[in-house]
Amino acid sequence: MHAIVSKSPHNHLFIINYICIFFTFRPFSKLYMKEGDVMIGTQVAKVIQSKNSAFPVGSHVVSSCGWRTHALSDGKDLTLLMADWPKDVPMSLAVGTVGMPGLTALYGVEAVLQVQKGETLLVNAAAGAVGTVVGQIGKIKGCKVVGSAGSDAKVAYLKQLGFDEAFNYKTVPSLEEALKKAAPEGYDCFFENVS
Ligand SMILES: NC(=O)c1ccc[n+]([C@@H]2O[C@H](COP(=O)([O-])OP(=O)(O)OC[C@H]3O[C@@H](n4cnc5c(N)ncnc54)[C@H](OP(=O)(O)O)[C@@H]3O)[C@@H](O)[C@H]2O)c1
Repeated sequence: MHAIVSKSPHNHLFIINYICIFFTFRPFSKLYMKEGDVMIGTQVAKVIQSKNSAFPVGSHVVSSCGWRTHALSDGKDLTLLMADWPKDVPMSLAVGTVGMPGLTALYGVEAVLQVQKGETLLVNAAAGAVGTVVGQIGKIKGCKVVGSAGSDAKVAYLKQLGFDEAFNYKTVPSLEEALKKAAPEGYDCFFENVS
């Protein structure tokens, strides 16, 4: 695809023209939108024209300009992705595991919960963007990780990710029993994910 805009009416602002590669969608977006607005979202984009040496043509950026195929920027709202991004790591992870959801998970686990090796960590909405990363960080840190999710497919996915225990909170006969069964020793930390 080619840029559909090549000249800005405010030429001094027209520095970077980029094309979207990956979008994000967040359920809470509807709270901040009215009919006719551009869909809110973050994207990974490729710079296709540039007058700013900090963002050369061909470089990739994270932008919060919403669901647009093309956008213009003066660079202030862009985060440059490293030029040597590993070829075997999908760039879409820049809006996922190594983007805001991942940072949310990392901050919560390290700065807020300060989990310690050997502790038992409970995560709800565990199969979501944040919860999946929380559980994996918990495992890296040597915790026992228990996940609660809303379908059997999500529970299977959590097991695949390395969660020690996972259950479907919608089908267990008793939440209390499910929690006790998953961790008879009790829980040291709880990562609450439901807004
Ligand atoms: N993504 C980010 O970058 C980011 C940044 C800062 C803060 N946060 C916050 O972190 C939390 C998780 O975000 P996320 O992006 O991981 O969300 P997500 O991927 O959209 O997952 C949300 C999950 O929450 C569960 N859920 C929704 N409504 C529920 C309800 N009424 N009762 C119980 N469970 C419900 C659903 O999973 P089940 O089917 O398993 O119930 C749903 O899939 C949210 O509070 C969000 O606002 C996210």
